[in-house]
Amino acid sequence: MKKIIIAIDGFSSTGKSTLAKQIANKLGYTYIDTGAMYRAITLYAIRHNYISENEFNEKALETDLKQINLEFKSNPLTQTAEIHLNHENVEDKIRNLQVSNYVSKVAANSKVRKKLVEQQQIMGQKKAVVMDGRDIGTVVFPDAELKIYMTASAEVRAQRRYQELLSKGDNVTYTDVLSNVTNRDYIDANRKDSPLIKAKDAIEIDNSNLTLEAQFQSILALVRKTTSSNT
Ligand code: DC
Repeated sequence: MKKIIIAIDGFSSTGKSTLAKQIANKLGYTYIDTGAMYRAITLYAIRHNYISENEFNEKALETDLKQINLEFKSNPLTQTAEIHLNHENVEDKIRNLQVSNYVSKVAANSKVRKKLVEQQQIMGQKKAVVMDGRDIGTVVFPDAELKIYMTASAEVRAQRRYQELLSKGDNVTYTDVLSNVTNRDYIDANRKDSPLIKAKDAIEIDNSNLTLEAQFQSILALVRKTTSSNT
C-alpha cells in the first residue's frame, strides 16, 4: 500500500491525538504531535521568565531559538514518542494549565512557527506519518494525501480536557478549563501567521456525538479509499 501523509487539524481537545495515535498504530505509521513542540518551547519560555500573565519577551525567545533542541524519542514502555527539550524528557510537564494558558501566544510568534514547521516538514519527508496540529493541512503539508479537520463543541471539548487533567491529579475547575479552551480557540483562529482554518480539501468530522470506535472506523475507511486510489 502506498505510504501517505495524514494531516489532522482542529481546535484543542477535539480528540486529534487519540485518533492520530490509533491510526498510526493500525497502519504502522509514525505519529507526530506538533502541539507538543509548541508546548515544549512554551515551557522553555516559562522557565526563562520570558512569558507571564501580562508580558511576553518575544525578542529574548527568538534569540534563544537556535539553542532550543526538540526531539521525539520513543518510550520503550509505552511505545509512544515523547518530546525532549534540550535532551530532557518533558512529556509530563507540558500538558498542565500553565503551559496551556501561554502556548497560543508562543505559537503565534512567526519565528517560532518557522523553526517548527521546517522541522515538521523534515519529519514527514519519508511519508508514512500521521501529524496533528492546527496548520498541518494548510501550511506544513498542503499536499498531504488525506486531510481531516476535527471539530466538537467547546463544552464537550472542555469536559474532555477537564476529565483528563483531573485523572492526572491536577487541581482545576471546569470553568477554568472552558475559559482556556475558548481563549485558545480565539487566538489560534485569529492570529496573523497560519491561523487555524479548514483546508479546502479537508474532510470535516464533528465528533461531539461520535464514539471513538465509530470515528476510528470512518477515518480508516477514508485512509483505505485514499491509499487505494493513489496506488
Ligand atoms: O494540540 P495542542 O492543544 O497540544 O496544541 C497546543 C497549542 O499549540 C495550541 O493552542 C495551538 C498551538 N499549535 C499550533 O499553533 N500549530 C500546531 N501545528 C500545533 C499546535
